[in-house]
Amino acid sequence: MSTMEAFDFTEEIARITAPLYERVKTVIPEAEWLVHAPYVAAINKLKVERNAVILAHNYMTPEIFHCVGDLCGDSLALAKMAQDTDAEVILLAGVHFMAETAKLLNPDKTVLMPDLGAGCTLASSITGADVRALKVAHPGRPVVTYVNTSAEVKAESDICCTSSNAVKVVESLGVDEVIMIPDEYLSGFVASQTKVKIIPWKGHCVVHEAFTAAEIAEYRDMYDDIAVIAHPECPGEVRDAADFVGSTSAMIDWVRTHKPKRVFMVTECSMSDNVAAEEPEVEFIRPCNLCPYMKMITLPKILAALETLEPRVEIPEDVARRARVSVERMVAVA
Ligand code: 13P
Ligand code: SF4
Repeated sequence: MSTMEAFDFTEEIARITAPLYERVKTVIPEAEWLVHAPYVAAINKLKVERNAVILAHNYMTPEIFHCVGDLCGDSLALAKMAQDTDAEVILLAGVHFMAETAKLLNPDKTVLMPDLGAGCTLASSITGADVRALKVAHPGRPVVTYVNTSAEVKAESDICCTSSNAVKVVESLGVDEVIMIPDEYLSGFVASQTKVKIIPWKGHCVVHEAFTAAEIAEYRDMYDDIAVIAHPECPGEVRDAADFVGSTSAMIDWVRTHKPKRVFMVTECSMSDNVAAEEPEVEFIRPCNLCPYMKMITLPKILAALETLEPRVEIPEDVARRARVSVERMVAVA
């Protein structure tokens, strides 16, 4: 099916996609589904023909996360899944650094990124030259690098980490002090959980830096039974005001386990929609902080990428060789 034909919502498409709509009907209105369904059907058919797997981050919109994503999760889970898959083609429904990580772990596979412009403010906050300067300023200190960075930055690092394994990775090095880049707030969170001294960098996530403790206090005033759970990329005052702090998948697991009456997930807003689709009993208080980069990934762009097998993520071999070591060390620790 070509992209043009895919616009019609036929009886056949209604029938094929009905079980998928069941999963998302509480968060996607019917009128919107008429637009998504033809793309969902075309993508799911084409990915089988291409022997492709779609890895979807927790921040994808529900029609991507629940209806075309084969494997979904946080950055660490996506990295592990990328390493384990037998598919010939990996399509990353997420942002560029996630696709680069998948390519580092699968140099011989085709890794597709539906929009190469889907960046990240943390990744753009630091360059390879910045890391070299940090190493000169703090000789002998290992560099622990959040995966939300370019391959060029990973290539200058000793080991990578994600929000779900950062403390474990830092402690695995057996040293008293590490350089930890680029998220100042994640570094602050790790510093609060370990005796290892952290030398941070001042990078921030555009989504999480916008939350404040005052906003949380307002919600607590409005609803005395609200649970507040936050991502470690949030400022320290927000993390301190939260009932739980964890990676995107840890936050989802917390809701599944605790089933609070009401929850404010202090993170990107599509994630609340994705969990709400599975947990109809929980009321989600949704602040609308959207990641402009994650939202660049859409069903039409996913379909176009599968049709053309472009755009592909490629990394120069000398950079890839060094960056891969940092990512593989992390996966071994995790
Ligand atoms: P997670 O690894 O927790 O999914 O975080 C990735 C991210 O970009 C959060 O903003
Ligand atoms: Fe980067 Fe923040 Fe977007 Fe995550 S939510 S991809 S950290 S800009």
